[in-house]
Order: sequence, then C-alpha cells, then structure tokens
Amino acid sequence: MSYQTKLAVLFEGSGDASKFEELSERLNVPLRQSTEQNSEAFFLTWRDGCLKLLDKELLKKGGLSVDIEPRNGEQRSYPAPKEGAFSQAIGRKTKTVIDATTGWAQDSLCLFRMGYEVRCIERSLIIMALLNDAFERLALESWVQKLELSPPILMHGNAIELLKNLEMPPDCIYLDPMFPHKRKKSALSKKSMTILQELVGEDSDKTELFEVAFTATAKRVVVKSPDYAEPLGGKPSESFSGKLLRYDVYLKN
Ligand SMILES: C[S@@+](CC[C@H](N)C(=O)[O-])C[C@H]1O[C@@H](n2cnc3c(N)ncnc32)[C@H](O)[C@@H]1O
Repeated sequence: MSYQTKLAVLFEGSGDASKFEELSERLNVPLRQSTEQNSEAFFLTWRDGCLKLLDKELLKKGGLSVDIEPRNGEQRSYPAPKEGAFSQAIGRKTKTVIDATTGWAQDSLCLFRMGYEVRCIERSLIIMALLNDAFERLALESWVQKLELSPPILMHGNAIELLKNLEMPPDCIYLDPMFPHKRKKSALSKKSMTILQELVGEDSDKTELFEVAFTATAKRVVVKSPDYAEPLGGKPSESFSGKLLRYDVYLKN
C-alpha cells in the first residue's frame, strides 16, 4: 500500500533537523516546514519528546504517539496480574508470545507488563517508526531500568513471510488484524484505529496470516476480533469474550 503521497515529515523548529531528515529519507516522503499548501493529509513529527502522527484535525491537539503507560485499571506492579479475558486466552503457562499485528502496541505492551516475553511484528514503516520511538522511551522508564528489562523485540516485515522463517517458535502467536467496520461511526474504535485504517487499509490477507501462524506456533494462536465477526480460523478450541470483542483460541495438540 502506498502512503508516500499521503504523508510528510514535519520540521517546525529551527534547531537540528538531522533526525527529521533521516526519517523522511527512510520513509521516502517529503520533509516540510509547515502543513500549509501541501497535499499530504498526514504528518510525522517529534513533539513533547515523542514521535507523533498527525492529521489536519490533530495538528493543534498534539497528535498520536504509541502510549507506553499502563491502561486504565491496570496494576502498576511488575509483572501485572494475569487477569481477564486477554490473559486467559494467551494462557497463564505461556511464556513467549509473538504479536504478529503490532499496530499501536497496546496489546503487546500489556503482555510485556504481565511478564510475557514478547516479540512484535509490524509491516507498516510508519507504524514501525512510531514503535521504535516508543520502545526507546520504554527502555528509559525507571521501572524498566530498575528491573533490568528489555523492551519487546521489534521486527519489520510481513508476518506471513517472517513467521515462516522463525528460529524459535513461540508458545503463542497473537493476531489482531483489522476487520471491516460494521458498527455505526459513534461505536467505532478510537481515533488511533481510524487513522491506522486510513493509512494502512484493511488487512485483507488475514486468513493466510492465520494459516501461517497456526503452522508456526508451538502451542496456540489467539485471534482478537469484533464480536460480530466470524472466527478467522473456523471453530476455535475456546473463546473468551471482552467488551464488544472476542479472543478465539486455537490450540495445537
Ligand atoms: C488492528 S491493528 C493492531 C492493534 C494492536 N493490537 C494494538 O493493540 O494497538 C493491526 C496492525 O497489524 C498490522 N498488520 C496486519 N497484517 C500484518 C501482517 N501480515 N504482517 C505484519 N503486520 C501486519 C497492520 O499494519 C496494523 O498496524
């Protein structure tokens, strides 16, 4: 999917522009000094110490970055307790997880905080840039340093290819691909997900991804899907329901 015509790197300051130039070269998109008189709808820029993704609506509000803070209601101790549908689906005895559809990494980071050993795959270069920035910030968090933890390993590429060549199969492969929206706009997920959908599009190869993941995993595949969607891999071994969503678990015998 081509994003080059939709995105630019924005350098509004007057200091050292080298990391902005490096990012625009890496992504092969223009470097702009203002958002006016440009055709792009999206911008990447560093603001308040994080790399942020902006659209014209978010320009004044501050933009979206990968949030490394625990979710509402999550305990701040490490490892956070393995509670709720998500960790039940991943499995309490599971040690290693590959998140093959990392996106904004909210699920990966939740798994990391619960003490799972997490590897992350993402194919969008834009999202990779945001993830790299976030995991660098995570490495500097005092609790991560005190406990001598390393942030999840990030892998760029199509999981359909990367999962075929794994040296160490994980206990669990986690999939959260994008499904077409069926709910009314008001019930749609947050801005972060709508912007992701606009930039990377729908994940139309998710059935193939499931099949490759099931071959590649050592023990299980977990698929998160909206509650209205058909299970991606046929009848699951078990399912756990969350708010408006479902985790389908496929176990290997
Ligand atoms: C719905 S988002 C995932 C959201 C994520 N679970 C979170 O907590 O933020 C799906 C992401 O998976 C990525 N993706 C989908 N299929 C992929 C594939 N075959 N290989 C790598 N990344 C993929 C998309 O680019 C997108 O960023």
